Amino acid sequence: MITGGASGMGESTARLFVEEGARVVIGDVQEEKGREVAASLGDACRFVYTDVANSEDVQGMIADAVHAWGRLDVMYNNAGIGGGEGSIVDCSEETFDRIIAVDLKAAWLGMKHALPHLVRNGGGSIITTASVSAFMGMMGQGAYGAAKGGVVQLTRVCAIEYASQGVRANCICPGGTLTPILYANPAAPRAVSPEEVGERLKYAQPIPRAGLPGDIANAALWLASDESSFVTGQSIVVDGGWMASARQPLAQQQPSVRATST
Ligand SMILES: NC(=O)c1ccc[n+]([C@@H]2O[C@H](COP(=O)([O-])OP(=O)(O)OC[C@H]3O[C@@H](n4cnc5c(N)ncnc54)[C@H](O)[C@@H]3O)[C@@H](O)[C@H]2O)c1
Repeated sequence: MITGGASGMGESTARLFVEEGARVVIGDVQEEKGREVAASLGDACRFVYTDVANSEDVQGMIADAVHAWGRLDVMYNNAGIGGGEGSIVDCSEETFDRIIAVDLKAAWLGMKHALPHLVRNGGGSIITTASVSAFMGMMGQGAYGAAKGGVVQLTRVCAIEYASQGVRANCICPGGTLTPILYANPAAPRAVSPEEVGERLKYAQPIPRAGLPGDIANAALWLASDESSFVTGQSIVVDGGWMASARQPLAQQQPSVRATST
């Protein structure tokens, strides 16, 4: 089960999982795109219209997967929104609530409704897409960062509550990754092209290229597989070294300031 599978990292993961022999259900609000992706993957992939912030939708999507394929082994809570929320003062309550609902509550709903199926099977893997924003304060990402930070903590609790029943829970924390969330966001202050974003992402971290959806799909594949069977409660950062290279605040880069502060 992959939410947000109509685009970006979710689409790339659906393609990789099918290539590796999995049967996949994509849940997404982008109906046309979701159906297109599923159709391109043949009989091994289904699409179910799902708003991940809606409990009934999430239950329906999981029921479809279990009905179609007989069981659920992997729940990947990947759908997300973000960008353009503005500063804490500028962000509307409506925007704050929607970001928390889609980026945090939906992960909880996915866990809540998938867990009984996974436990019944004797185990499984829950993966959630968090972000480096869970660990670093980023301007204009109050709601988004709070939601992703919440996902990291929720993952830990899920991991310890269900470890003895064979369920593992981990999250992936991408850095800047070239997907539509960065260049096709209607809430963004101005239109940007994928090429422009790709160029900017090249220099956002030590590894001099943009992060790609396939980088995240490969991490998800490992977390979904038995090869990560002793890994749970973790936040796997996939960011080309961005978090390892935190820049100094401007004030600390100025020699006169540095000399007087230790
Ligand atoms: N691209 C990045 O730089 C980046 C960095 C860190 C984290 N992330 C996270 O990665 C995840 C995947 O995003 P992406 O970068 O592939 O972007 P994307 O926009 O290509 O994909 C997100 C998908 O989620 C779907 N979606 C949004 N709201 C939904 C809802 N309510 N119900 C169901 N589906 C919904 C969208 O329709 C879309 O298909 C998100 O959780 C995002 O926050 C992205």
